[in-house]
Amino acid sequence: MAKAWSPDSWRSHPIKQQPTWPDPAELDRALKQIASFPPLVFAGEARSLQSGLAQVAAGNAFLLQAGDCAESFEDFSANNIREKLRVILQMAVVLTYSIGVPVVKVGRLAGQFAKPRSADFERIGDDEIPSFRGHIVNGEGASAAARVPQPERLVQAYHQSAATLNLVRAFTKGGFAALDRVHAWNQEFVASSPAGRRYDQLANEIDRALRFMRATGMDTESNANLREVDVWTSHEALLIDYEEALTRVDTTTGSWYDCSAHMLWIGERTRDLDGAHVEFLRGVGNPVGCKVGPSMTGEQVIDLCEALNPAQIPGRLTLISRMGADRVEECLPPLLRAVKDSGHPVVWTCDPMHGNTYTSASGRKTRHFDDVIREIEGFVRAHRAEGTWPGGIHVELTGEDVTECIGGADELSDADLDHRYETVCDPRLNGRQSLELAFRTAELIRTVAPAS
Ligand code: PEP
Ligand code: CO
Repeated sequence: MAKAWSPDSWRSHPIKQQPTWPDPAELDRALKQIASFPPLVFAGEARSLQSGLAQVAAGNAFLLQAGDCAESFEDFSANNIREKLRVILQMAVVLTYSIGVPVVKVGRLAGQFAKPRSADFERIGDDEIPSFRGHIVNGEGASAAARVPQPERLVQAYHQSAATLNLVRAFTKGGFAALDRVHAWNQEFVASSPAGRRYDQLANEIDRALRFMRATGMDTESNANLREVDVWTSHEALLIDYEEALTRVDTTTGSWYDCSAHMLWIGERTRDLDGAHVEFLRGVGNPVGCKVGPSMTGEQVIDLCEALNPAQIPGRLTLISRMGADRVEECLPPLLRAVKDSGHPVVWTCDPMHGNTYTSASGRKTRHFDDVIREIEGFVRAHRAEGTWPGGIHVELTGEDVTECIGGADELSDADLDHRYETVCDPRLNGRQSLELAFRTAELIRTVAPAS
């Protein structure tokens, strides 16, 4: 008999990484308000994404999950959303064209606000102040006052997610994402880079192919596959109070869905089998992900698969490997083997960011582009050796010309970090680095040979 589940059954499980809200009555008011608001996504959409992910699990498609480490209440504009979308579309075209399989596109956006922290407090001079937990909780300013958790931020996060999702839907269905605009996605500062020039050539080839199709009599204008794309939303389901408030019964199937996003994932710090996060996500119908770091054992990963996907539904569970470039080839293979032997149909994807973060000499949190590539390479090698499918990448990026990660074709250095370091949390790849990453990833998938 399966254990009973309800949207609030997580409340009787141990929970990590939650803010201490100063006024429970205020929190309650904010949650009640959100519970009365319309859902942000429709359950049928989550099921469509799950079918796409089932194709990834079967080795017939590739997953590109990308966006901010943490969305910001301040850096919130049409420009910002459009540039992020533009680089995601560019990367998807490169991957689709070079690997030759459909690319399932999932944004870390329209709800990616809450952040787990390594410590509850931060030392500023002689003071200890609460850590910054994302704009959905508190402000990042270095004062105790700024760090007080404010429940009305939950409501603001809902509204910002709704507006972001609305614009994403408008762009992806309204013509912006039409394949005959493939050149226009190459914004100026990206176009002038080596990857940007390579992209332009690829776009020329796509243009030629479209002209060829039209010449044969095919109507490329009215074909939805050429005019529209799906970009799904996702975030770490960290604040389960918020997630519960948006969890609704789907009238079509009678099942519960977390309607805050199409896909939700569990972070590396909150994936305890008996913890509240696993308890909550096991009961919703959405496709779910879980980060898998170097401490994970084969036995634990199977327990996790059993807990989150007991019915072994393909596309339901995505395992997001984040081992670090130096450890991926040692830590990942035993897990690939264990999952393969268990028969669980998972999507394996590579987060090459979170195991490769370090503090630069100038004191900035950064990542080196070469480490990011090295981790993807190790990930692909491990899969090729086990005969499993390196199903995707999970990356933190922005379309903007920021200087947060070191390296790449521009050879950004430690000294460049101060120039445009704008992230509210982890360092993101900029537009040029992101496109270069797409080309390099596609090459690795194509050239690292399967075991014979
Ligand atoms: C993140 O994805 O931003 C994150 C905090 O990752 P992880 O849980 O893998 O550390
Ligand atoms: Co991050």
